[in-house]
Amino acid sequence: MSDSRNAPEAPRPAEHTPGGRADEPGAGSPHTPGVSVRHTRAKGEPRFPDGPKADPAGSHFERRIRSFQPRRSRVTAGQADALQRLWPKWGLDIDGQRVIDLGELFGNANPVVLEIGFGMGEATAQMAAADPDTNILAVDVHTPGQGNLLNLADQHGLPNVRVGNGDAIILLREMLRPDSLDGLRVYFPDPWPKKRHHKRRLIQPEFLTLAAARIRPGGLVHCATDWEPYAEQMLEVLTAHPDFENTRPDGGFAPRPQFRPLTRFEGQGLDKGHVVNDLLFRRVQHHNQPPTGA
Ligand SMILES: C[S@@+](CC[C@H](N)C(=O)[O-])C[C@H]1O[C@@H](n2cnc3c(N)ncnc32)[C@H](O)[C@@H]1O
Repeated sequence: MSDSRNAPEAPRPAEHTPGGRADEPGAGSPHTPGVSVRHTRAKGEPRFPDGPKADPAGSHFERRIRSFQPRRSRVTAGQADALQRLWPKWGLDIDGQRVIDLGELFGNANPVVLEIGFGMGEATAQMAAADPDTNILAVDVHTPGQGNLLNLADQHGLPNVRVGNGDAIILLREMLRPDSLDGLRVYFPDPWPKKRHHKRRLIQPEFLTLAAARIRPGGLVHCATDWEPYAEQMLEVLTAHPDFENTRPDGGFAPRPQFRPLTRFEGQGLDKGHVVNDLLFRRVQHHNQPPTGA
């Protein structure tokens, strides 16, 4: 991931090449894993015929401020192969057009945690391997990362990972049932450091209200960031939100829980001397909300 604080407009993972074009699997030349390839694609031809759809929610939805800025990204041959081969098995297009049965999606009734913005997915794969009885629905718009995480899930045999392509807000708003999640993880979300971009930050009161409606009472919201002003904002809005309570008796930041591995973006922040803050909040039961499972 690039250091988005220096980006002129939007935070971008390092793998993104602004203005660069997609690479595709198949079609002629032999592929060396890890090496980018280029092919000419006819107009309208999908980038990955069996893989994630470009902009799955398309124009069905209103224009609004987004927490990411979609760009075309360079995809390695290995990632492209994984997207083609494994998307039909483990991929989820976030099109906003159907309500998902998470038990069906994972093929079991284990608890499901939503991770928003997994980047290249290394930390996601580590968490999935360490806790096979928890399903992770990992969502990002970053195509190379989706291919990378699919490859990791395949190589390490991680049946408890599903990879979502699209805006997590659409997933939460349109496709997930009330109380269907056992937790939410947001690790090193794009910090949007410029004041005029603060409205793009993911962790805001409206987002928390939407997330709260999908997380069962007792479920954990776990955020981490190396951008201290954002950490303060997260603490403020989570503390003020009536649907969450801080798991820390002192009402402050939490020590990094053992289950959260170091992430790629975090490593870059630490190299720059940034301070990392974790926040662990619990979804509380409201007296005016009927209990689930009755
Ligand atoms: C700064 S990166 C951090 C990646 C990873 N968690 C890490 O720590 O290395 C933030 C990621 O969040 C993704 N993202 C931001 N807003 C999103 C949204 N609304 N839905 C899905 N992904 C989103 C971006 O595409 C980006 O890959």
